[in-house]
Amino acid sequence: MTALLDIHLTVADADAALRADARAGLTAHPKHLPPTWFYDARGSALFERITELPEYFPTRTERALLERTADAIAITSGADTIVELGSGSSAKTRLLLDAFRRARSLRRYVPQDVSEPALREAMSALAADYPGLQLHGVVGDFTAHLDRLPAEGRRMVAFLGGTIGNLLPAQRAEFLRALRAALRPGEAVLLGTGLVVDPAVLVPAYDDAAGVTAEFNRNVLHVLNRELGADFDVEAFAHKALWDARNEWIEMRLVAQRAMTVALAELGLTVRFAAGEEMCTEVSAKFRRPGVRAMVEQAGFAVVDSWADPDERMALTLARAV
Ligand code: AVJ
Repeated sequence: MTALLDIHLTVADADAALRADARAGLTAHPKHLPPTWFYDARGSALFERITELPEYFPTRTERALLERTADAIAITSGADTIVELGSGSSAKTRLLLDAFRRARSLRRYVPQDVSEPALREAMSALAADYPGLQLHGVVGDFTAHLDRLPAEGRRMVAFLGGTIGNLLPAQRAEFLRALRAALRPGEAVLLGTGLVVDPAVLVPAYDDAAGVTAEFNRNVLHVLNRELGADFDVEAFAHKALWDARNEWIEMRLVAQRAMTVALAELGLTVRFAAGEEMCTEVSAKFRRPGVRAMVEQAGFAVVDSWADPDERMALTLARAV
């Protein structure tokens, strides 16, 4: 068994990035924070709980779609190495690993994640369950370190869960361009995207009755309190999710329930919130299938095949670097 771990993102790098993002976002008008900082240990656990909520359909829909399509993906991709960006717990990945194993083409799995503990945990579980599989983990940021992806094997890069929708349009185009540049012609990408669906179904997925998503959203303030010595009164912020029909994305916001002054000791920064002021903490864009095709083709890929669930809520697109 071979297991390697490359670290491109140290604790110091992550800390510097958090400081820069917090300073930029909290001094902007309107204020905003990037969704990256939800995912400390508590935030990652809250996200896992979200995926099990009755209202949050994307994870289970994509899983069912992968169950149906994984064998075709294994055969059509021609890959022997699965690279997964933002692999997290690698739960859905097992469907792909099993299909590639059935196709007798599985040699190597390269999980990439910002969280070193999550990656180590996922890798040790996989090492036990897939003897003979070469594991090459990468701790890094999928928007920053694509040029350093391991190059061994014939790769298929999986980017699932609709996470590409958390990037703004310009970041998305830049990300796909960098991904194309990191691949050799003929190598593949498997992209999972949320599709545009009825807001009556979509909005509750981001505003569940049990309030788990609200806790997840507020968690970014706990992160700032802990990491930057901030004094946010976390409970004084309410969760809000809205459908932006023009941009076709869900926006999560935190709404100040009263006027507040917040000190961020480590930044030497004081910020004021007006009562009712809204701060955007996540954009989750939804796509139409022709839009997905255009986006990947624009970046230098050719679509090989694509699939959606019967309700057309999630899509998987398999494309090849041209
Ligand atoms: C799986 C990261 C794409 O945008 O749906 C879940 C994150 N945010 N509930 C998404 C999320 C609020 C999720 N991603």
